[in-house]
Amino acid sequence: MHHFSYRGGVLHAEDVAVPRIAAEVGTPFYCYSTATLTRHLSVFQKALTGLDATVCFAVKANSNIAVLRTLIGLGAGCDVVSCGELQLALKAGAAPAKIVFSGVGKTEAEIRLALASGVGQINVESEAELDTLSRVAAEMGKTARIALRVNPEVDAGTHDKISTGRKEDKFGIEWSAVPRLYRKAARLPGIDPTSVAVHIGSQITELAPFEAAFKKVRELVLQLRAEGLDIRHLDLGGGLGVPYDHSSNKTPPSPEEYGAMVKRTFAGLDCKFTFEPGRVIVGNAGIMVSEIVSIKESAERRFVIVDAAMNDLVRPAMYGSRHDIIPVQEASSGSLPVDVVGPVCETTDCFAKAYPLPSSLKAGDLVAFLTAGAYGAVMASSYNARALIPEVMVSGDQFAVVRRRPSFEEMVALEQLPPWVE
Ligand code: LLP
Repeated sequence: MHHFSYRGGVLHAEDVAVPRIAAEVGTPFYCYSTATLTRHLSVFQKALTGLDATVCFAVKANSNIAVLRTLIGLGAGCDVVSCGELQLALKAGAAPAKIVFSGVGKTEAEIRLALASGVGQINVESEAELDTLSRVAAEMGKTARIALRVNPEVDAGTHDKISTGRKEDKFGIEWSAVPRLYRKAARLPGIDPTSVAVHIGSQITELAPFEAAFKKVRELVLQLRAEGLDIRHLDLGGGLGVPYDHSSNKTPPSPEEYGAMVKRTFAGLDCKFTFEPGRVIVGNAGIMVSEIVSIKESAERRFVIVDAAMNDLVRPAMYGSRHDIIPVQEASSGSLPVDVVGPVCETTDCFAKAYPLPSSLKAGDLVAFLTAGAYGAVMASSYNARALIPEVMVSGDQFAVVRRRPSFEEMVALEQLPPWVE
């Protein structure tokens, strides 16, 4: 459920007419709904009632500080994977104790910053990282509360590029090495190994892979405890999918179903839990609004060329993913199959092929790309020297630009000529 709907034939973000924002901000832009963010976080939190759980929002999905602060204000912690994300989370007001530092390739500088900031948990992804963390923590006189992120050898059944729990994936510690590394971690200075972390992928649309991974984690905890290790915390990652394509009948499990499965799987284990959802919290809370530049017809196809491109929303080009596209002004005309494309000089700059849009659409009309709140703005680039597009946040009948469009001067401010070029 989200708060983008037609009123009087015009798409509204909560109580704000989308064309009003477009007139003030210019297109393209991202638009986030506070009510939707709030709803999604509270539905997720409620689904975990009965567990001692912290929801650490995966900052990689949407790192806008206004979004982070909104979620943090509602009790969320943050899951971060870089110095930059850690600094954003802190700037947005996250309590360090509610920050989890994940990531497969933490540098020593990142480890130092994480320790100096007092993050609640560091998820270790390899033996080499465990050794570095121990050395740095001991040097700094700190004790790092860690989880080993384990690779459960479970296929999440999602897109190949966002699967992380298979044996061949770069993530997590090889299943067979896990008990040995926990024993080692328990002996190392500066390390407090009290937690197990697992994350098998993103946009997962079935419960079964989660359940398979979690069952293995449960067995692992029992085994580690039998060896005398004090495991009392589980970080179950993120990954719950959202519906992107309303023409498909694939509905991901609800947070309630997911929460019930977690409670079933870990019944009686007496652990605290951390969750790292990203997409399920912000995905449907954002849209990208774009203006039609022109319509180009050939014998073969009808192209709707919009002013947003693959650099603004890369998911279709990168993963072949489909975002619903709707006209901002509801149309009564019948629809025609069109290719919705951007202006970037690559054939992959295509948002949808043979997509049904009203035949009356013309240059100057606005369209909205739905479910663009997660992995949208954060993955944008300035390819083709296109400025990063603004982000707008709506709350009730108010809206505010929460990241403005940079000027050309700002875009080139970091560049300089070498001395040998006149
Ligand atoms: N925790 C860890 C360790 C992760 O690697 C991720 C996502 C999450 C949590 C959050 O997962 P979520 O709940 O959002 O599924 N750019 C891709 C998605 C990449 C996901 C990377 N890791 C996309 O646009 O589909």
